[in-house]
Amino acid sequence: MCGIVGYIGYREAVPFLLQGLKRLEYRGYDSAGIAVLNGTLSVVKQKGDVAKLGEAVAASHADGISGMVGIGHTRWATHGDPSDRNAHPHLSMDGSIALIHNGIIENHAALRTELQQHGYLFQSDTDSEVLVHLIDHLWKQIPFIDFESAVRQALSLVEGAYGIGVLSSREPDRLIVARHGSPLVIGIGEGEYFVASDAAPLVEYTRRVVYLADGEMAVLSADGFSLKTIGNVVQEAVVTELDLELDEIEKGGFEHFMLKEIFEQPRVMQDVMRGRVLLEEGAIQLGGIMDMLDELRMARRIIICACGTSWHAGLIGEYLIEEFARIPVEVDYASEFRYRSPILGEGEVMLVISQSGETADTLAALRLAKENGVKVVGICNVVGSTIARETDCGIYTHAGPEIGVASTKAFTAQVMVLAMLALALGKDRALGPDAFLAALGELASLPEKMQRTVEESEVVRGISGEYTWAEHFLYLGRGYNFPVALEGALKLKEISYIHAEGYPAAEMKHGPIALIDEEMPVVVMVPKDASYWKVRSNIEEVRARKGKVIAIATEGDEEIAGAVDHVLYVPEAAAFVMPLLTVVPLQLLSYYVATMRGCNVDRPRNLAKAVTVE
Ligand code: F6R
Repeated sequence: MCGIVGYIGYREAVPFLLQGLKRLEYRGYDSAGIAVLNGTLSVVKQKGDVAKLGEAVAASHADGISGMVGIGHTRWATHGDPSDRNAHPHLSMDGSIALIHNGIIENHAALRTELQQHGYLFQSDTDSEVLVHLIDHLWKQIPFIDFESAVRQALSLVEGAYGIGVLSSREPDRLIVARHGSPLVIGIGEGEYFVASDAAPLVEYTRRVVYLADGEMAVLSADGFSLKTIGNVVQEAVVTELDLELDEIEKGGFEHFMLKEIFEQPRVMQDVMRGRVLLEEGAIQLGGIMDMLDELRMARRIIICACGTSWHAGLIGEYLIEEFARIPVEVDYASEFRYRSPILGEGEVMLVISQSGETADTLAALRLAKENGVKVVGICNVVGSTIARETDCGIYTHAGPEIGVASTKAFTAQVMVLAMLALALGKDRALGPDAFLAALGELASLPEKMQRTVEESEVVRGISGEYTWAEHFLYLGRGYNFPVALEGALKLKEISYIHAEGYPAAEMKHGPIALIDEEMPVVVMVPKDASYWKVRSNIEEVRARKGKVIAIATEGDEEIAGAVDHVLYVPEAAAFVMPLLTVVPLQLLSYYVATMRGCNVDRPRNLAKAVTVE
């Protein structure tokens, strides 16, 4: 979703702002803009990408887009279409205040009417513009208040979610930022400060950062900054060291971030297990949840809440925890859970899963559980994210920054964490010592098997080329591979815009079979497991109706080649780790089909990396 950057210090702000917006592109956006203060405010903003904005800024340079204080924004449209006039920053009517905003101001309509009655004219359809006029109005109306107080007063009247950056030519040596729901991080330099929605734009400039907590506001100048709550209570700034390298947020020779991230997965698997899967000791050590392990083991029920791909990981988690730990698990879409009067009681534990750690619905589900006295464990990728901070304890996935909008390595890292968790919960209980050790061995051998699977990318590319014409795809799997079918379908639809659906293989005859004809490619996960022959029967049902079958099968299963149109092989593995292998060809299939159809796989239309609005 929208991205924010800001700068105050001793150097020209524009290069940081443009480069910073570029680093935030992965979040998803449709328009971009910057405002720079140099006596007066200069604004350049327009529909389109950051490269185009850079050209517009260069073209306007003669007019003085120069200055050492500035803000920048990438907008993902919510209120008002993607257009030049709806792009941020928004200016007050006299041009003295510029504002950028992430989130949604829920009472914008009422505020707009009130401001219009005071003579304010609106230039855009956005909810955000209300805020800049409100600050201006309060600053002019309330005697003797300063910029900071005007912003504070305005925020106290706003309902909804926001991350904002505000500048004013009336107090030109200040940059004010505040957050309520939308993340913001301040980078601390020597005589300069940087602001961004996440750490990616900061890594080239500083390693020392302060993550703003919800309800906090910072006033930055070149000499320092103050941190208070929106209610004006002084807060202590906690400075943390950024654990992020530049090459982690660059493409490193790959054509797209998505491909790079698919190829990174074998290494990510090692990173997730490092120091946690202790083969020699025959143990799993999950430091982050140590204090809650017993509570989790004794849980009457575990409720998993997540969205999208993370929800698919949650479904695999359900299979894993129920198989190995014998604890009942319920998996909910966070957006449904929060609004359906869920029954929460003693002995229950919630598990939230989120790559970004900022997903609004997942965060709301977490808060609802905590309000009801239920402990919450988090599985997050982004260190220091809101969900990571608000959970009682958690396990980081250590997948590194995921820049491609379509989640790949974060998904497999989540599944790996869930497998480790299930085994840790089951050890010495439902899972005897031999079975536990065998399972550890399966985990340890996974990175090498995954490496062999990604190395088959050329085979997947070849098959992909035969299906770029398709308008629909069906994905089928059973057991651990049912959520993989859902994930394969989601991956394909989000980056190639081909309609795709995932089903449990046995459900096909309860409806979807009606769709099958020669124009319906069907991807079937058919590893050699307990339901192998049942899935083979499903394949026959597809073939009898002339559907094209792409099978994901176990190495050595030569015989299946005669029964399907194409086979993609994955190494032999235990059923519970199979999703970590079968998903890889599905990711690659989506990637190649989408790129061959000319789609922008790293930034698919309409999608955002962190969905911070509900
Ligand atoms: C799909 C995808 C989304 C996210 C979903 C939840 O490729 O990336 O479906 O999985 O928006 O996001 P997180 O995991 O950040 O909570």
